[in-house]
Amino acid sequence: MRVLVIGGGGREHALCLALSRDPSVEALFCAPGNPGIAQLAELRPLTDAVEVAKEVGAELVVVGPEAPLVAGVADQLRDAGFAVFGPSAAAAELEGSKAFAKQVMGAAGVPTAAHHTCTTPAEVEAALDATGPPYVVKHDELAAGKGVVVTGDRALAARHATGHTVVIEDYLDGPEVSLFLITDGITILPLIPAQDFKRVNDDDEGPNTGGMGAYAPLPWAPPGLVAEVVEKVARPTIEEMAKRGTPFSGLLYAGLALTSKGVRVVEFNVRFGDPETQAVLALLATPLAGLLYAAATGTLDAHPPLQWRDGASVTVVVCAAGYPESPRTGDEIAGLDEAGGADVLHAGTALADGRLVTSGGRVLAVTAVAADLKAARELAYDAVAQIKIEGSHYRSDIALRASQQT
Ligand code: GLY
Repeated sequence: MRVLVIGGGGREHALCLALSRDPSVEALFCAPGNPGIAQLAELRPLTDAVEVAKEVGAELVVVGPEAPLVAGVADQLRDAGFAVFGPSAAAAELEGSKAFAKQVMGAAGVPTAAHHTCTTPAEVEAALDATGPPYVVKHDELAAGKGVVVTGDRALAARHATGHTVVIEDYLDGPEVSLFLITDGITILPLIPAQDFKRVNDDDEGPNTGGMGAYAPLPWAPPGLVAEVVEKVARPTIEEMAKRGTPFSGLLYAGLALTSKGVRVVEFNVRFGDPETQAVLALLATPLAGLLYAAATGTLDAHPPLQWRDGASVTVVVCAAGYPESPRTGDEIAGLDEAGGADVLHAGTALADGRLVTSGGRVLAVTAVAADLKAARELAYDAVAQIKIEGSHYRSDIALRASQQT
């Protein structure tokens, strides 16, 4: 199969790594890719996705990021006759609009936080009165990881809402879980749950980020969690989307909180999560291209059950100086050859005069697999210690607590 991946971050590097290990993939392309992906796939500039897909003769196109999905790239590719892994623009509204996602969840009876959609300062004030602290304020539209504020500071919460339509909702306590569900609009195949670390500093301190690390599996997750989420969250959502005439196919990412009152949806995304994908795909033994192709072509019901490697995986994200407020770019990246024992996935890297340099906030996602979380942490952090980027930083507690429970 000739496969084209759209995107150029750590998630797409993880996708390309898994696809490159699938014997059915005879040619792998990525647009625009990055210097790490270039070691696995032929890169193409991302001008027009349909033109690139035609040029490379793609038999499957996998769209990584949410922005092109919300903008309708999957529709354009499907209209041009390509098999596409990724939802239509209408279905991608599950991530593109928080208010839309809440409407769908309401109609489908999916458990989520009580919420208020607000467009005026008066509505914002009333909603903040109603929920009380901690305040959870989400921009309705896509915001590249910067749209959500969780704070006890009411003035900050109100400021975050200024100039935006926002969803203000009750705070959900309890640990968070990311569960990815592959679907063709009818059949649903869950992957294994993972956990992401959103705050920039150890012990969940500091501002929110796109994700500082992840691990899988979750030794502390209740045994019935995945089946419960399929039945109470994914199936009703997929059925509701079909009923509306906007069937969802691709990857439904359920961001969940395991609260004292049960599982609640924190958010939906419509693509693989980053950096959870790096940790989850590292354990997937089932060939990825066949799985994504089955979802893209409506044949998931005939797909064999997913197979997983034994053991555990840990991903540690190495960030540029200044991340998340104002990441510095152009710093040289050294030590990658010494970082053995782990996959060093590129997220924000570029080549400048033949040197590998930082080009984004999250620079590398270092991913290790071992017999258990403790051993996977050791491998990942040993590799991270070899990497030299001036001013870079990373969390030292990824999967720490979970590794102490096994
Ligand atoms: N790790 C969070 C996200 O992918 O949105």
